[in-house]
Amino acid sequence: MAYTVPKLKSFSPAALDNAVEKLLAALEQESGSLRGGDERKTFRDRWLARKDGILAQVNELWLKPAPKDAKREVGQRVNKLKVEVEAKLEAALAQQASGGDESSLDISLPGIARSIGAEHPIIRTQNEIVRVFQNLGYSVAEGPVIETDYYNFEALNFPPNHPARDSQDTLFLANQESKPRREQLLLRTHTSPVQIRAMEKMKPPLRILIPGKVHRNDPPDASHSPMFHQVEGLAVDTNITFGDLKGTLDHAMKALFGSDVKTSFRPSFFPFTEPSAEMFVSCFICGGSGKREADPCRPCKQTGWIEILGCGMVDPNVFEFVKQNGYDPEKVSGFAFGMGVDRIAMLKYGLDDLQLFFQGDVRFLEQFG
Ligand code: PHE
Repeated sequence: MAYTVPKLKSFSPAALDNAVEKLLAALEQESGSLRGGDERKTFRDRWLARKDGILAQVNELWLKPAPKDAKREVGQRVNKLKVEVEAKLEAALAQQASGGDESSLDISLPGIARSIGAEHPIIRTQNEIVRVFQNLGYSVAEGPVIETDYYNFEALNFPPNHPARDSQDTLFLANQESKPRREQLLLRTHTSPVQIRAMEKMKPPLRILIPGKVHRNDPPDASHSPMFHQVEGLAVDTNITFGDLKGTLDHAMKALFGSDVKTSFRPSFFPFTEPSAEMFVSCFICGGSGKREADPCRPCKQTGWIEILGCGMVDPNVFEFVKQNGYDPEKVSGFAFGMGVDRIAMLKYGLDDLQLFFQGDVRFLEQFG
């Protein structure tokens, strides 16, 4: 039953206290169970409305009819009641303002959890490669993915119209015919242009590692992608020899694939290195035998060797482009290498389809968390 203000039969202090106590109990109960904003408004009207709110009725039924000698006692109590009712109302409104509504807040509901992403397997592999060389004292350099013809080709000793350019079919940006050829922009086909950028900025000796995205005009299939990743290395100093190149890369491959892999260097061609080589590692999947149990080993095509990177001694023609910064080909020598990160990641994780890396399928990616 909702509380109603009774008429008083007696105005004795004890009777007044009793009546006040009942009213406060009702106030306590009603203010404690308030929920939404509507209920607060109803509560305010019921207790504070000028015309027939409970406090108005208290005035009407307790104060007005009180005999003269009880007026003081009644007046004091009525004033106190007013303060209490207003305080309760304010507390209820404050709770609403702070958004809290303890009575309807279910703190046992689980929150909205955002899953924390994981390093993509390609980036993880890239970081592993970078770490091996950082431990050898190499620092990391980066350069733009949108590159000029000059850095991507010309300064790397690919003269304009030279057939070696065909080996890296390029994606040029549109509408640049009016620019001189060397300023035309393209998506870099390798990380080698950063060799030139780094040598323009830093004097020898130099030991840098260059990870990054590259693009080629290759349609996507199980082993090709128009976008992929490389890690490039460059070391320049006095008296750097092909022996340094072999020793450095042999150590790096053992650090990456296990101390029992062997390396093999076979002659090759790149315009910016001379001599040039392709480096193979003994197949770390079949152990170099070309067989997995009775089956032929697919990753090494049964040869027992896997091609990992291109490398060579920096061509003196390349140093000519940065000669004014201390790279006199008569005084310094260096080696460079470049490897495909995506392919190494595929081998490491035993994948047979490169496209899995780029499809963004969480069922695939979450296996690397
Ligand atoms: N840039 C070459 C490529 O993408 C690889 C390479 C780098 C070769 C450095 C030699 C030296 O094929």
